[in-house]
Amino acid sequence: MPLRPATEADLPGILAIYNDVIATSTAVYSEAPVTLANRQEWFEGRKAQGFPVLVAEDAQGVAGFASFGDFRVWPCYRYSIEHSVHVRADARGKGLGGDMIRALINEGRAMGKHTIIGGIDAGNAASIALHEKLGFTKAAHLSEVGFKFGRWLDLVFMQRGLAS
Ligand SMILES: CC(C)(COP(=O)(O)OP(=O)(O)OC[C@H]1O[C@@H](n2cnc3c(N)ncnc32)[C@H](O)[C@@H]1OP(=O)(O)O)[C@@H](O)C(=O)NCCC(=O)NCCS
Repeated sequence: MPLRPATEADLPGILAIYNDVIATSTAVYSEAPVTLANRQEWFEGRKAQGFPVLVAEDAQGVAGFASFGDFRVWPCYRYSIEHSVHVRADARGKGLGGDMIRALINEGRAMGKHTIIGGIDAGNAASIALHEKLGFTKAAHLSEVGFKFGRWLDLVFMQRGLAS
C-alpha cells in the first residue's frame, strides 16, 4: 500500500485509529479518547518541527499512520528520534506496519538523525516482534511505569541505529 505525507483531511481517520488503540489496548498509555483538536495540535507541531507524519490509505480511508519526533527535548538529544506507528484493526498483519517503520527509518536518515527509539508496552508481542524483525534491539525494560485497565504496565525501549 503506498505511503504519503498526511494532510489535514487525514486527521479524522488518524483520530479514529488512535482512539480505537487507546480504548482496546495498552499500546498507548492514555485512557480517555482524544479530540480532533488534539490531533490537529499534534499534527501542526510535527509539521512546524519538520517531522514526518505518514499515512497509508485504502478504500475504507486511513489504514495506518506513523510519525516521529524528538526522543527528548534537551538540545543534545537532537540526533535521536522516537517514533510511533498505528494500523487500523482490520488492516493489521498485511505488512503495513513494517512498511511504515521502514519509511520512517529512511526519513530519519534523510534528516541526518543517528538513532531511532520506540517505547513499546512489554505485552505488545506484535510490535516487539515487528521491531526485532526490522533490526531494533531491546535497550531497556522499565517495570511498572504505566497503569491502565487496573494493572501495572512495563515499558520496553527498542532502538536501532540509522547509520546502516
Ligand atoms: C503493531 C502494529 C503497528 C504492527 O503493524 P502490522 O501492519 O500489523 O504489522 P506487519 O503486518 O507489518 O507485521 C510485520 C511483522 O510483525 C510481527 N507481527 C505482526 N503482528 C503480529 C502478531 N499479532 N503477533 C506476533 N508478531 C506479529 C511479525 O514478525 C510480522 O512479520 P511476518 O508477517 O513476516 O510474520 C499493528 O499491529 C498495530 O497498529 N497494533 C495496534 C497499535 C500498536 O500496537 N502500535 C504500536 C505501538 S508500539
